[in-house]
Amino acid sequence: MSQLLEIPIVPISQAKLDAPFEEPSVSKDVTKQLLETKRPVNGEIELTLFENCNIECDFCHHDKQSVVGLTRKEMFAKLPTIEKFLKERAGTVEYMQVNMVGGELFQDRWLDRLCDDYTDLLKEIARIARQYGHRFQVVWVSNFLFAGKERIKQLMDDLRADDIPSYLIVSYDFEGRPMSGRYRKNIKWFGPEYILSINLVGTTDSIKAFMEDKDDYFKWLYETFPIYFDDYIPDRGFDHLCPSDSQMYDWWVFVADNYPKIAPMRDLIENDRNQMHCLSLNKLTVFPDGSTANCRWDRYDQRDFVTKYERHDNAGMMQRFMDENGCLSCEYFNRCGFRCYTQWDWKNRERDMGMCAMKAFFNYITKGEKWESS
Ligand SMILES: C[S@@+](CC[C@H](N)C(=O)[O-])C[C@H]1O[C@@H](n2cnc3c(N)ncnc32)[C@H](O)[C@@H]1O
Ligand code: SF4
Ligand code: SF4
Repeated sequence: MSQLLEIPIVPISQAKLDAPFEEPSVSKDVTKQLLETKRPVNGEIELTLFENCNIECDFCHHDKQSVVGLTRKEMFAKLPTIEKFLKERAGTVEYMQVNMVGGELFQDRWLDRLCDDYTDLLKEIARIARQYGHRFQVVWVSNFLFAGKERIKQLMDDLRADDIPSYLIVSYDFEGRPMSGRYRKNIKWFGPEYILSINLVGTTDSIKAFMEDKDDYFKWLYETFPIYFDDYIPDRGFDHLCPSDSQMYDWWVFVADNYPKIAPMRDLIENDRNQMHCLSLNKLTVFPDGSTANCRWDRYDQRDFVTKYERHDNAGMMQRFMDENGCLSCEYFNRCGFRCYTQWDWKNRERDMGMCAMKAFFNYITKGEKWESS
């Protein structure tokens, strides 16, 4: 720990935000060593098989018409990249989660063919993962608008029968996501045996609607399933969806006061020690065309960020986050999960608190001190 305090702390400066980009103060390798105690114990492979989708959510920046990645050949072409990552991470993580995402994976028009391909693909990934000693599970993220629920259940059961733990994640949102009558029926039909969690995205609009607290269906979801309220990942042209620091703070406080079981805030409220929430130190993101990154999206470039942007390593952003906020000498270092570095470093995010929003949140939950704008 004493080694951590030798790192210089650079104060926040608005002028710096106008510079082309910021170089972090120390090398990426040093950053990784310093954050070793905060490294997540689990790893993640996020497999965006394709972007094609049957609906349009306001905050989702996929190309819904794209057919790249939809063929069996394209899916299986990703295996060598996955194998390389599983080999590199052998022995370094407790278990590996494979996140299967689209686009929408469970579109009725192709369901039988896709589910056959998914089964074979996951069995192959399982074989490779076992070869390198990984324990792992697979989660399937869906909009839950499908008619073919029996075929999807069969997919889950086939994998489970092969010792591949397999779960569904349902996306729910207060704003910007179309959800028809079939949606609720599907959730009820699969229930907690198959649904690992209900995931929401924290855009400005959804946070506002959430805090109005008028959604009785959400209240039922909250009592029935684990809920994960994720950070919005920004995109160029959609700055208005990216919450300001003070909105993030209000959101976390509202969760603590009203829905304290919502992850990942729950850990911050309940535990004195937490790992960082961002998995990027242990993460591989694979895009439909087989290219990779450390974190979404493939179209980001230097214009989007304050810190020097590196597609294959988020550590530069992490280091600058630590520098600016003074994390390494912060009283909440052990407790903190930090933030989504990609959102935090987004050039046009509104920085309106003059202090670390997370620190203000910890002051509230541990000392009852409420932050007020001056
Ligand atoms: C891209 S979707 C694909 C899976 C499926 N179509 C669905 O909606 O669940 C995967 C997850 O990312 C979330 N998501 C979409 N756009 C996002 C964004 N800009 N930032 C953070 N999460 C986002 C969705 O709500 C969903 O839970
Ligand atoms: S259902 Fe999923 S992939 Fe489709 S638009 Fe919504 S978030 Fe994006
Ligand atoms: S509360 Fe803020 S300053 Fe403290 S460790 Fe967390 S992010 Fe860093």
